[in-house]
Amino acid sequence: MTQRRLFVTTALPYANGNFHIGHIMEYIQADIWVRYQRMKGEEVHFVCADDAHGAPIMIAAEKAGITPQAFVANIAAGRKPYLDGFNIAFDNWHSTDVPENHALAQDIYRSLRDAGLIATKTIEQFFDPEKNMFLPDRFIKGECPKCGAKDQYGDSCESCGAVYAPTELKNPYSALSGATPVMKTSEHYFFKLSDPRCVAFLEAWTHTEGHLQPEVLNKIKEWFSTSADGSGGLSDWDISRDAPYFGIEIPDAPGKYFYVWLDAPIGYLASLKNHFSKIGGDFDAFMADPATEQHHFIGKDITYFHTLFWPAMLHFSGRKTPNAVHVHGFLTVSGEKMSKSRGTGLDPLKYLNLGMNPDWLRYYIAAKLNGRNEDVDFNAEDFMARVNSDLVGKFVNIASRTAGFLNKRFAGQLGAIGADDKALLDGLQAALLPISAMYESLDYARALREIMAQTDRVNEYVAHHKPWELAKQPDAEARLQAVCTTSIEAFRLLSIALKPVMPALTIGVESFLQVTPFKFSDLATTLGAGHTIGAYQHLMQRVEATQLDALFEAAAPAVDAVPAALPGGEALAAPITIDDFAKVDLRIAHIVNCEPVEGSSKLLRLTLDVGEATTRNVFSGIASAYQPADLVGKYTLMVANLAPRKMKFGVSEGMVLAASHADEKATPGIYILQAWPGAQPGMRVR
Ligand code: 2FM
Ligand code: ZN
Repeated sequence: MTQRRLFVTTALPYANGNFHIGHIMEYIQADIWVRYQRMKGEEVHFVCADDAHGAPIMIAAEKAGITPQAFVANIAAGRKPYLDGFNIAFDNWHSTDVPENHALAQDIYRSLRDAGLIATKTIEQFFDPEKNMFLPDRFIKGECPKCGAKDQYGDSCESCGAVYAPTELKNPYSALSGATPVMKTSEHYFFKLSDPRCVAFLEAWTHTEGHLQPEVLNKIKEWFSTSADGSGGLSDWDISRDAPYFGIEIPDAPGKYFYVWLDAPIGYLASLKNHFSKIGGDFDAFMADPATEQHHFIGKDITYFHTLFWPAMLHFSGRKTPNAVHVHGFLTVSGEKMSKSRGTGLDPLKYLNLGMNPDWLRYYIAAKLNGRNEDVDFNAEDFMARVNSDLVGKFVNIASRTAGFLNKRFAGQLGAIGADDKALLDGLQAALLPISAMYESLDYARALREIMAQTDRVNEYVAHHKPWELAKQPDAEARLQAVCTTSIEAFRLLSIALKPVMPALTIGVESFLQVTPFKFSDLATTLGAGHTIGAYQHLMQRVEATQLDALFEAAAPAVDAVPAALPGGEALAAPITIDDFAKVDLRIAHIVNCEPVEGSSKLLRLTLDVGEATTRNVFSGIASAYQPADLVGKYTLMVANLAPRKMKFGVSEGMVLAASHADEKATPGIYILQAWPGAQPGMRVR
């Protein structure tokens, strides 16, 4: 059999946030497949990158006060702990904002243009006159045209679910500046997906056996279909955006950039090219080789991009098209849907930081993935039950119950086994070899069910032969060694079968068994009498309920998540009428003199001219914030009809107004109010 040459990718995550559990699920799915291929000896290049471009990242960077490049670099810097932590074995992690990608995107575009597949069209779009930019739909808000709900996005209403064009919103405003957007025309570039050549190619590509899962093909058929009135079918794709935009410039089109989704999948090629430059491979030769297999793992929400746009872009630019696009469903946590930006309650980094074993999650997710694009649910109780019963209770238990006898009584040496022992191992090999096809077709759930069924058989064997009782019988030495040898051989076979799913555990097993890294073909062999195993050390802990409690314990709300209900640190006072307000007589006061108060560190004595015959004497607790000299000559506001109050230092004849936070310790500062120039002493404030 010739070695396969595989180019494998996962979807490039937007560089505007950390990974959430949905990303990790996809990486685990692909990583298991890659590890399986490597175990079979295939050549695999497994790459990913940050999806760097687009308006949302540009805007987020601007808000953060940094360049989009710096913004993306910050996000990229946080990737490693997740990938290392879950043992995701990418060969390369790159970015779409790199020279390789700029060059590849422009090359591909030129080829498409030369093939007559690019058209221009003038379109009308909302434009923010303050920010001087066209507004992406997500950045236009207004009232829902159907139900009137306020502050709805430009594409759909969160209140009634209606879907509409941004131009249908009532009283639209820019979510960036608040300005009322204006309609403005601009020339856009389109990829002519509706061209009969494209349609014919995609009909053939999508229907080719192996390219797509049947359920995915069914969905795509809907996109192809045209109604009797000629509507529907594939439409041309708008691939340009106007400056300002964080993206790749369109050749010969000043001020125009590729829409992020055009250069994103090209990032797969850029990352591979970058990888080859590091390992000394020939990227062009590899991609030109018809034997090279290109596999993309993606979520179901981005099927259209990967099964229509992407193969067509590749084909009509004279490149190899994907051999398969593997589509998975969404991950829910206890049935709750995940938001793309916020993820769910299961924070993968928190999982790792709590010291939870990455293989637990890999095993659990694998046990739920069947190669179809169905959603997968993470349920904490189910997780604990499966890991503790399957992995610890059944699988690891085989070694922990039998290795000790070999170590103590036979110096770790495996012995000869009998015919019935061999029958168990033969049966195991016959049952485990076919799981290869299950890994290949991504039906990990079935592979793990089969492995666990065989694990049960081995446990029955151990329970039946009771090595702990043989160990007590003086004349059963050989039998004890045979039973423990058989158990360890069986444990090894199961471990080989589990290796793609559980890389961390496997390292422990390989070292305990004192063997070189397992290959898939090792499933057809046994260690044999005379092989010496190492000392058994516990291979896996149980999941504790307290760990799951900690994992799902609500984090303290982020500062920006605190409800905005407490301005200045205190709730608003109860409403009053205008008549109530009129009871407070506020006047402009000229500070004619100010001096410290002897015996008080808090108070200043103010002499105020309020337009009366005589000045007023007012004590004010602002000594911590102002020097007397700062205040003399200034105009402020005072409550002029506050009943005079006798204080230790004299009578206070009113109160000046100053602002402060309710929690002065946390947010110190007192700010006396000042009147606008021109206000005269004694004028009323109303
Ligand atoms: O949906 C997403 O998260 C996109 N960033 C995926 C891009 S995949 C590929 F085309 F780069
Ligand atoms: Zn609505």
